[in-house]
Amino acid sequence: LFAGIQDAPLDPIMRLFEAFNADTRPGKLNLAIGVYTDAEGKVPRLRAVQEAERRWIDKALPKTYRPIEGTKPFRDAVQALLFGSGAAILGESRAATLQSVGGTGALKMGADVLARLKPGATVAVSDPTWENHRALFAQAGFTVVDYPYFSADTGGVDYGAMRAALERLPAGAIVVLHACCHNPTGADLTAEEWADLVPLMAERGLIPFLDIAYQGFGLGLDADAAPVRRFAESGQEFLVASSFSKSFSLYGERVGALTIVAADSSLRAKVEALAKRLVRASYSNPHTHGAAIVETVLTDPALRADWERELAEMRERIQAMRVRMADSLQQRHPDRGFAAIKVQKGMFSYTGLTPDEATRLREDHEVYALETGRVCVAALNAHNIDRVLDAIDAVARR
Ligand code: LMR
Repeated sequence: LFAGIQDAPLDPIMRLFEAFNADTRPGKLNLAIGVYTDAEGKVPRLRAVQEAERRWIDKALPKTYRPIEGTKPFRDAVQALLFGSGAAILGESRAATLQSVGGTGALKMGADVLARLKPGATVAVSDPTWENHRALFAQAGFTVVDYPYFSADTGGVDYGAMRAALERLPAGAIVVLHACCHNPTGADLTAEEWADLVPLMAERGLIPFLDIAYQGFGLGLDADAAPVRRFAESGQEFLVASSFSKSFSLYGERVGALTIVAADSSLRAKVEALAKRLVRASYSNPHTHGAAIVETVLTDPALRADWERELAEMRERIQAMRVRMADSLQQRHPDRGFAAIKVQKGMFSYTGLTPDEATRLREDHEVYALETGRVCVAALNAHNIDRVLDAIDAVARR
């Protein structure tokens, strides 16, 4: 039965995650996976999350099935977070939100819906993109291609090349866009570029699928969602995958949401029903615990305000680490383009480290980074940053 299975490696992020867990060296440091750690190097238990969890446990509610799409307060709160409270689209009933198994589950559910509607379509992902995008859409039966995105020369986006490639895609192609905090590079489109891109997608008949896994880690909760809001205002149909893993520090709880925006409420009802049928035949109903916590925090004004404060603290701490990293490495290696780390956004930066340098960083200095040179800046702190910078300096020198 199983003899015909072809050997294939896991994606590099999970391969290094497993290698890191198996590594017995005491000084090991994981900058390969996207997990925020605080000033003391710990994955934080956010204050509002702890309080919401206490309240939830005190209620001692029965653990019955959750609706396939998640509860209405959860779904409404997700939409308000994405579109902004008071946004016109919230009253139009043309957006369906379904709770998902993390951001990955939202992408997968969206891919499964699209596979029913556009079988065999092309899916275009940025070059580079999150390691799992390609596998996820390929597994759903799509042909996955790249569009140019990152410019190693500037450390930013080569929007001209991206735009030209999107113009060449066939109508009906699905385009995966990172709404903010591009994973893996940290390089985001400017507001002007989004203003150009949104109508272009509609003109070319392309299907936008926005991935927003880091809302709040770039410029702020509202500013980071600006591209989503721009698409909503344009009236076109699109999908959005949200993750609450990082913004609530709830990685293992797997809380996310898929939002599908249709042209009107009757089409929304049709696509929502399709998505629910696909979920029913896949995992039936979503989890309770993590989503109940997210729902409580988002809907209780005091907890919400405290969450926003703590999220801002996380964002500002990452930014402080970016500045230290960029300034120090730029000074030591003025020709390596390290200065871009300062203007990149979110948890990650593309450092420009070569695969060989990343390997030596891991083997000689116990610091894990992806071989693409992606580093999780959000795992740096005052206690480990000098060691990391000295290690990057050492491997970049040889
Ligand atoms: C990452 O990019 O490291 C995170 O999104 C974790 C993951 O699942 O890959």
